[in-house]
Amino acid sequence: MKNILITGGAGFIGSHLVRWFLKNHDYTIINLDKLTYAGNLANLTDVQNHKNYRFEKADICDFSAIKSILQKHQITDVIHLAAESHVDRSISNPLQFVNTNVIGTVNLLNACKEFWAGNFEGKCFYHVSTDEVYGSLGDEGLFMETTAYDPRSPYSASKASSDHFVNAYHHTYGLPIKMSNCSNNYGSFQFPEKLIPLMINNIKHNKPLPVYGKGLNIRDWLWVVDHCSAIDTIFHKGKMGNTYNVGGLNEWKNIDLVNLLCDIMDRKLGRENGESRKLITYVKDRAGHDMRYAIDATKLSAELGWNPSITFEEGLEQTVDWYLANEVWLENVTSGDYMNYYENQYQKR
Ligand code: NAD
Ligand code: DAU
Repeated sequence: MKNILITGGAGFIGSHLVRWFLKNHDYTIINLDKLTYAGNLANLTDVQNHKNYRFEKADICDFSAIKSILQKHQITDVIHLAAESHVDRSISNPLQFVNTNVIGTVNLLNACKEFWAGNFEGKCFYHVSTDEVYGSLGDEGLFMETTAYDPRSPYSASKASSDHFVNAYHHTYGLPIKMSNCSNNYGSFQFPEKLIPLMINNIKHNKPLPVYGKGLNIRDWLWVVDHCSAIDTIFHKGKMGNTYNVGGLNEWKNIDLVNLLCDIMDRKLGRENGESRKLITYVKDRAGHDMRYAIDATKLSAELGWNPSITFEEGLEQTVDWYLANEVWLENVTSGDYMNYYENQYQKR
């Protein structure tokens, strides 16, 4: 019997992962989350009464709280997602990212090391990381597990640092770790500070669509549920001490993606074709904006047999449908603090 601690389980990917594990396995899932602006228990209403689900509100930087949660639930495995995750926020407030992503991760590693006390049989600390640690690509090439780290934003620098600590705990103390570095996720329950839900929300409300720079930067998009299936595969079949890249070979220029979203939304909202594209507004570029990310996931597919389950077109249609059908969720997360964030982030551009 496994008692798995999922950190950041009230966030975007974390809530999908909690749901995925409850649906596909008979483990006890303990969701540990501080409930920052990005954490929302409304992401989990469908599973909140599941017999195998528990919730603990805690900060990964609080060592004694973490130790007592590990003890209370006799945690056998950790899947660590809790983080500050938005690049733009890291540019305004880098220290917050050092605190949560670096110190919080080291704190969690220390708590596990102490709690498991050298008895690592059947234990696993799984660290969920990002492709951004590899830096930025030119026109050619893909990120591989062997690509040298070259983080360029405060967010990616903090994630790179946490990755190094996780590996260091494996090599120094023998902590059983696994890690994955994934490309951009999209899907339901994503906080609308990120490109896709922000654009959907703005198109819906006929607000300007702020495209950074010339819109030529490229991201490699993966459906969040496919990321969860990859984590499940690596968690069960991956080699201890190994890193796996996760991605769906699905590169899009930002402007092409925004145009596609406009066209899908026009169709769904019964607008004239081309109407929403008129909302596109080019704004000041993100500082240090990475040009291109693209993942080579050959190791994961060849060694562990994982592949994405749906196409981008299918996933995007489903995602747009979800945001249109879940107006209350969207309105709740875009009221209050979000308005202040939006003003600060976009008024100066
Ligand atoms: P998110 O911002 O939606 O969720 C983060 C969650 O962590 C929130 O629920 C928040 O409340 C919680 N949290 C933040 N600080 C905490 C703290 N100190 N203690 C406890 N909980 C805390 O993020 P996401 O997009 O779901 O990303 C999850 C993880 O996956 C992150 O580690 C991120 O770096 C990684 N990742 C994200 C993507 C992506 O495209 N979103 C891609 C690859 C990797
Ligand atoms: O690659 C994985 C990473 O993807 C994750 O580690 C991060 O947690 C996640 O936030 C994401 O980072 P990005 O910076 O790539 O995602 P974001 O949605 O913020 O931006 C995607 C692209 O769209 C990027 O090139 C910047 C651009 N953009 C974004 C916003 C919010 C715009 O042009 N306008 C916008 O308003």
